[in-house]
Amino acid sequence: MKILMMGPPGAGKGSQSAKVVEHYELPSISTGQMFRDAYNNNDPIGIEAMKYIKDGNLVSDDITNEIVRLRLSKNDTENSFLLDGYPRTVAQAAALDVMLDEMGTELDAVFNILSSNDVLFERMEQRRVCKSCDTTYHLKFKIPKIDGICDVCGGVLYQRPDDTLESVKRRLEIYETKTRPLLDYYEKKGILFHINGMQPFDNVYNDIELVLRDI
Ligand code: AP5
Ligand code: MG
Repeated sequence: MKILMMGPPGAGKGSQSAKVVEHYELPSISTGQMFRDAYNNNDPIGIEAMKYIKDGNLVSDDITNEIVRLRLSKNDTENSFLLDGYPRTVAQAAALDVMLDEMGTELDAVFNILSSNDVLFERMEQRRVCKSCDTTYHLKFKIPKIDGICDVCGGVLYQRPDDTLESVKRRLEIYETKTRPLLDYYEKKGILFHINGMQPFDNVYNDIELVLRDI
């Protein structure tokens, strides 16, 4: 199973990816998370990437394609994987096609998680993330048992540096201009599935699961 989660910032890609990855035991490839991990580990790529991420801009295609290429060259992604947040430019989609071609495979399904901008702004303002394991919380809809502490690993919860109002506005702009055009590309391939992301977590997941059962 090779699947891709698309959708604007805050739509719920990461939340739904976590459920899918756990249920189907898929390797997860989230470029955003890889950049945050690299930054937290003081890796030069992470430090370079954070210059763009904090203001809501995209990291360069070259850097992003290279980290995905390296990840897809590992043995565990031979038969299945879930991509979260990659590709998000036309150039990245072309680069991914070359990588998949070299692997002799293709994507089975692309999910487009939809949401209104009002909901997206609220979600990112209320989001808290574990510094250690990246588990995501929401101060109203997914509340940690102990304030400021991750239920899963006991790590410290923080607000992402790109969840400021200005950065969220910029991310939404970039989504509209650079990423939304990719939906047509996958629609034409007949593998795009639109999912209403404004429902409760489990309902969103059920809609995704209905599609995955058939592929
Ligand atoms: P990335 O980490 O991928 O961020 P994003 O695309 O902006 O998406 P988010 O992670 O903000 O949202 P999400 O859709 O995962 O929502 P979540 O599940 O957390 O990328 C960050 C940055 O890295 C980019 O801006 C860019 O700079 C760089 N980058 C990454 N990939 C790149 C690429 N390919 N090329 C270039 N640069 C790249 O949910 C949000 C909140 O809502 C949470 O609090 C959650 O608990 C809550 N929530 C979710 N679903 C529901 C629900 N159904 N009901 C109630 N609350 C919900
Ligand atoms: Mg995410």
